Amino acid sequence: MTTPLARHLPPWPADTALRAGTLDLYGSAWAALPPAIRRAAAWGVDWFATSHPVLLREGNRVVAHVGVTLLRLHLEGACTDLPALHAVCVAPDARGRGVGRSALETALAAVDAAGYPATLLWSEKTALYERFGFATRRESAWVVPAPAPAPAAVERLDPDHAPDLERLRAALRSRRPLSQVLATADAGALFLLNLAIHCTARRVAPPDLLLWLPEHDCVLVAEAHATTLRILDLLATEPPPLEALVGAATRALAPPGGRFDRVHLGVLVDDWLDGARVEACSSDDLLMVRGTAPGALAASGPPLALSPFAKT
Ligand SMILES: CC(C)(COP(=O)(O)OP(=O)(O)OC[C@H]1O[C@@H](n2cnc3c(N)ncnc32)[C@H](O)[C@@H]1OP(=O)(O)O)[C@@H](O)C(=O)NCCC(=O)NCCS
Repeated sequence: MTTPLARHLPPWPADTALRAGTLDLYGSAWAALPPAIRRAAAWGVDWFATSHPVLLREGNRVVAHVGVTLLRLHLEGACTDLPALHAVCVAPDARGRGVGRSALETALAAVDAAGYPATLLWSEKTALYERFGFATRRESAWVVPAPAPAPAAVERLDPDHAPDLERLRAALRSRRPLSQVLATADAGALFLLNLAIHCTARRVAPPDLLLWLPEHDCVLVAEAHATTLRILDLLATEPPPLEALVGAATRALAPPGGRFDRVHLGVLVDDWLDGARVEACSSDDLLMVRGTAPGALAASGPPLALSPFAKT
């Protein structure tokens, strides 16, 4: 199906030299991004199919890239597509002379012409994007005391192992939104790309993050930080009891004999928020919105968070 975005911003040309040149450009800003893109390709995800690029060239060389991805979200219960900018970069020797402004203005003119009410991005360079009409919309995190762990079977998933990749893909296909406020409705490519980027940049092995709970038919994406269990994402048709999840994570992630005393939620799971303390999201990359933010994304909206694996 052709989206309004695709009518105003063409997809990636099938030009291998252009693609390779753009990977080099990404590498000049983020060393981990080109290897992560190749890693995700081995898992069946084509970076170039998930984004619409604005590319500026000088001679044969790509000197600027702004990617626009269409994010599919559940926003207050309704499925909503919103464009999101990503991988905004200019070659180091071309910076400071208006190239970035030109590429950003081209991308924003296209999303405006396509008629979307708002455009999103996540960045630590908020002052840069404020110049282009973006405003920061703070995200939150929720902290709950860890309940006593309940026994739960758990297996690590390794997406480099074909049966585990299929298990992960099945969980991505069948997952349902776990929040009525904000949840991703992405079919799975964005999750796998973010997994590749997260693991490559932080030198984390995917099986150290991905836990499969067969009795609950869900995949938990989580890390242990001392006695805090940090939940980054949860792929499920309905949330399992938090006790079972803590039980599985204690077996898989806590040091021998150790236990978690609190659970930090970086993704909204409505069923678990009773009595939770709301904190500011600790990520350096802040959500920014340009235009009229719909529903819960409005500045006056409720506390919200999107999984780091559902962002651009
Ligand atoms: C950020 C980046 C894309 C800017 O590209 P550039 O070609 O140097 O930018 P321009 O010269 O077109 O400047 C555009 C405007 O943004 C401003 N700007 C540039 N970098 C900025 C920064 N880091 N913080 C705040 N403002 C910035 C400029 O002053 C200019 O403002 P003006 O047009 O209102 O006078 C480039 O420095 C880059 O690729 N950095 C590495 C990757 C990165 O950090 N990407 C963005 C975060 S996702």
